[in-house]
Amino acid sequence: MPLLAVNVDHVATLRQQRLGIEPEPVTAALMAELAGARGIIVHLREDRRHIQDRDVTTLRACLQTHLNLEMAATPEMQKIALSVRPNSVCLVPEKRQELTTEGGLAVAGREDEIRRFLKPIWAEGITSSLFIDADPAQVQAAADIGTQFVEIHTGHYADAGDNTARDLEFARIAGAIGLARKLGLKVNLGHGLNYVNILAFKDVTGISEYSIGHSIISRAVLTGLSEAVSRMVSIVEGFTE
Ligand code: PXP
Repeated sequence: MPLLAVNVDHVATLRQQRLGIEPEPVTAALMAELAGARGIIVHLREDRRHIQDRDVTTLRACLQTHLNLEMAATPEMQKIALSVRPNSVCLVPEKRQELTTEGGLAVAGREDEIRRFLKPIWAEGITSSLFIDADPAQVQAAADIGTQFVEIHTGHYADAGDNTARDLEFARIAGAIGLARKLGLKVNLGHGLNYVNILAFKDVTGISEYSIGHSIISRAVLTGLSEAVSRMVSIVEGFTE
């Protein structure tokens, strides 16, 4: 049975809009756990645009499931991972100007460098995942590096402009999952998955975990809105005019 891990970055995005204290991503993570999520994911970006260092340390102290820290392969992030000790790290590419992670990490040709980066992390008992495109060369390189997991990038599938392009991306992802499993890797999927486009994966086997953020937080904003408004209406209308 594949599991769901929830990415709470965009709860922090909303908080950082006002640089205030709400909404609290740690509360969101604990609510996601109570609702059945089997893991929580946060991406600590170099520019700290959403998740902050204290979110990661607080989550580490509070979570009962699994904390997966997404991060760039930089010395700063390696130091943080070794000090916070999440259950797993997921290495992603990072560009300052991007709205969100745009593609998979190029690992082919950088096997030694990435293995060297991960060695101290593995030595602390932290597992690793590499966020890669559905490309056989990247899957092979990930296996050669010795990571336990890969996360196959589903963003191109989610963003495909028509059915032909979507089918092609889907076939690439299915092929990459098959190869990764054959090479002994565990496979997660993520990026751009929502309540509709995820349905195509119903019969795809070999997937350990789905990593989903934006669509869940987006839905929560809308499904929670009626209660939030009616509560404020009852406060305001309880006042004397
Ligand atoms: N996996 C990785 C590696 C990501 O960078 C992201 C986005 O932060 C996700 C999964 C979740 O993507 P989404 O927010 O589109 O569900």
